[in-house]
Formats: sequence, structure tokens, C-alpha cells
Amino acid sequence: MYSEKVMDHFQHPRNVGEIENASGVGTVGNAKCGDIMRIYLDIDENQVIRDCKFKTFGCGAAVATSSMATELVIGKTIQEAMEVTNKAVMEALDGLPPVKVHCSLLAEEAIHAALWDYAEKHGIKIEGLEKPKTDISEHEEEEEY
Ligand code: FES
Repeated sequence: MYSEKVMDHFQHPRNVGEIENASGVGTVGNAKCGDIMRIYLDIDENQVIRDCKFKTFGCGAAVATSSMATELVIGKTIQEAMEVTNKAVMEALDGLPPVKVHCSLLAEEAIHAALWDYAEKHGIKIEGLEKPKTDISEHEEEEEY
């Protein structure tokens, strides 16, 4: 039921981890399944995404989509990264079963939330980017303990 690419990214996820002093961090959750995804972006002065890492407390499809999403946004400008939609991620993975589509949405939302965080920190506006509905990152500071 899963494509080879999904299985590959699930079993060998790319870019797992965190980025210290990230330019932007976004954390989103899906209330229904309880899965959580956090994306870290390292963005250079030309607004190019130098690096992207993720952490997912979620299902296999969530792991695979976030892994693929990080690969797709690295090296892109923030404007190009806006085009990395859940559809684009699913296509890159050769599809997902219908019940797993929401998992790929989580990846898109997490990237948007991280871009929003970056934009807020730098006082800029990113064309087409809306405030994330489900950013739950306010609590991330406490995690150090
Ligand atoms: Fe919720 Fe996959 S089941 S993210």
C-alpha cells in the first residue's frame, strides 16, 4: 500500500534532528491523530534555505513526508519553498494512501509555520504565507530541561 519511496524515507529518514539557533522553527500538530511535527530552517542572508531538519512524533507517513519535504526545500529560496505543498511532497513520494493525506499536510504546515517564525523574527512579509493555525511552538523553550 506504500510506494517504495515512502518506505525508503520512512526507514531511512533524511535530515532528522534539530538546528541550533535556527532562523525559523515551526511546530504543528494534528488534533485527531495526536501526531506532532517540528521543522527547523536555516536561512541565509539571500533568503535561501541552507539547511532544514525535522523531528516528528508521528506515524510512518508523517516521517516519510517530512523527510521528503526537507529534501525538497533545501537549496530553495523561501519563495520557492512556498511551492512545496503537500501535493508536491506526495508526488515526490509517488503518492500516499488517501487516509494518510493529512500526514503530508502536517509537513506543509510545519514548513509554513517555520517560515512564519522566520518572517516574524526578521520583520518581513512572505508573499502568500498565512499565519499558521496550529503552531504550538510557544512551549518549546521548556524542553531544554
Ligand atoms: Fe497523523 Fe499520520 S496518522 S500524521
